[in-house]
This record gives sequence, structure tokens and C-alpha cells, in this order.
Amino acid sequence: MQHIVNRQGLNMPKLGLGTWPMLADECTRAVEQALALGYRHIDTAAGYNNEDAVGQAVANSPTPRHQIHITTKVWWDQLQPDAMRHSMDRSLKALRSDYVDLFMIHWPSTDWDLPRTIETLVALKEQGLARNIGVANFPLPLLRKVIEELGAPLSAIQVEYHVLLGQNALLDYARQHDMALTAYTPLARNKVSDIPAIQQIAAKHGALPTQVALKWLLDQSNVAAIPKASSEANQLANLAAFMINLDDQDRALIASLSKRQRQVSPDFAPVWDAFDE
Ligand SMILES: NC(=O)c1ccc[n+]([C@@H]2O[C@H](COP(=O)([O-])OP(=O)(O)OC[C@H]3O[C@@H](n4cnc5c(N)ncnc54)[C@H](OP(=O)(O)O)[C@@H]3O)[C@@H](O)[C@H]2O)c1
Repeated sequence: MQHIVNRQGLNMPKLGLGTWPMLADECTRAVEQALALGYRHIDTAAGYNNEDAVGQAVANSPTPRHQIHITTKVWWDQLQPDAMRHSMDRSLKALRSDYVDLFMIHWPSTDWDLPRTIETLVALKEQGLARNIGVANFPLPLLRKVIEELGAPLSAIQVEYHVLLGQNALLDYARQHDMALTAYTPLARNKVSDIPAIQQIAAKHGALPTQVALKWLLDQSNVAAIPKASSEANQLANLAAFMINLDDQDRALIASLSKRQRQVSPDFAPVWDAFDE
């Protein structure tokens, strides 16, 4: 499994397992199965209500905790310093661990004291409760502010990214600042399987459209991807995406697809970057 390693200390497998919206036993079973298949990166969040199920799977698995990268996130209404520390405590308890590998702010808030929130995030890293810190769903101007004005040592940003949604500006910035960019909803919720151009590339390689879409992400420097898959067949198929070799012609065809088809934009989402191709 290829890893993303950066100067902030991140050492994160490029392919992870997304766990939303799985809950309880379904989630425990899927995470245990993924660990048995070789996944070593699990994405969860306080907002998913499944950290306990993930913690149970890690406890059940013969794979030692230190060999597994776990990302969790704090919800956007818990960003006051005390609330954020409590959220971290609850996450650690549910995950049955004394640290997380990556702790992220899940969504920006509109009603926050940004410098104090970031100060608290950094303090959680300094205390060792978070090995690395990051943010999710931050548009570029806000990310710039956190890094350049507030000086936060962020290791990663997590945003929606797939063959139908471009993220060139954020990705350029992540590379310039030695950060990982984790692509969430990397299969566009399996819409990639219905795109004729992706089907055509898949047929050429004797692969699945989902594997083409994933390998396009995994081939990019600094990019990780966290498809959610519950069945063993889909988890295995996603792991096998590493085996395909996309060529320049394939990449040109993927580049020609419209890159403005965002799937995830709840009513509390920020104003997205105007140009995110
Ligand atoms: N930070 C954020 O705000 C944020 C937002 C959204 C998502 N996320 C994270 O990103 C993860 C993934 O995103 P997502 O769940 O929205 O979308 P996704 O991973 O693009 O798509 C998941 C869907 O694709 C199916 N699938 C997976 N592998 C497949 C395969 N090989 N062939 C056919 N279908 C396949 C899954 O079905 P089965 O389950 O039946 O296998 C599921 O229905 C989430 O679980 C979560 O951890 C983060």
C-alpha cells in the first residue's frame, strides 16, 4: 500500500475506507473486514455516530493499533475550545485509543472565534492527542488564512474530489505546503460507473469504472482517497485499483469531463471556491 508522508509527520496510506453512513454492527463488520483485507486507513468522524463501531472493529482486529491510520473529525458546532476538547475526549474513548492519527475540523463555522479554534486544534497536536491535524471543507481563502496568518501546522485537507469535480487550486496549494489532500466521495457515490468515457477506459484495461476513477486519484501526488464500501467485493475491487496503469490518453479523456458536479453541499456548507477545476 502506498503512503503519503509529509514533513508535519503524516504517514497516511493513500487508500482508506470511508465509514459514513454505516452505523453500529454494519460499520464494525465492514471495518473489521477491511482491516483483514489489508486496509490500514479508516475515516470516521464524531458526526457519523460510528466511532464506537470503528473502535470495536480495531479492538477485534489482530492488526495492532499503531499499524492503522485513523482520521476523525470534530463537528462544526463544537469548535469552542472546551467543546472541541470534549469532542476529542469522546472520540478517543469511543475509538479506544489515546491518540488519533489525524484530527480534523469537519466543516467551517460561521459563528466562531477562528484564532481560538485553531489555537485549540494546535494544542491538541502539541499534547499528542492528535498526531496530525487538518481541516475539511475549507475553501482556499480560509485555508490560506489558517496556514499563512495563524501559522497552523496542518498536515492535510479533506474535500470532495473525483473525476466530476476538480480541485486544482486546493491541490496546488496543498502541494506547495507539503499537505495531503484526502478525496472524499471519490466515486461520486458510484455515479462514475455511469459515465461513458470512464466505462470506455475501464473496458480498455479490463477493469471496473470505479477502479479507473480511484486510480486517477491515487496516481496524483499528495492525494489520498477514502471510498466507502461495505461489501467485501467492493472493498477488494477498490484495493485492486492500484493494479491498473492509466496512460496519457486516459488522463486526457478524464480531463475533458465536466469538473463542476459537486455531490455534497449541505445547508451549512461554506461558499465554495468560485473556480475549483
Ligand atoms: N469530510 C466530509 O465532509 C465528508 C463528506 C462526505 C463523505 N466523507 C467521507 O468519504 C467517504 C466516502 O464518500 P461517500 O460515501 O459519500 O461516497 P463514495 O465513496 O464516492 O461512494 C460510496 C458508494 O459507492 C459504492 N461503492 C463503493 N465501492 C464500489 C465498487 N467497487 N463498485 C460499485 N459501487 C461501489 C458504495 O456501495 P457499498 O457500500 O454497497 O459497497 C456506496 O454506495 C465517506 O464514507 C466518509 O468517510 C467525508
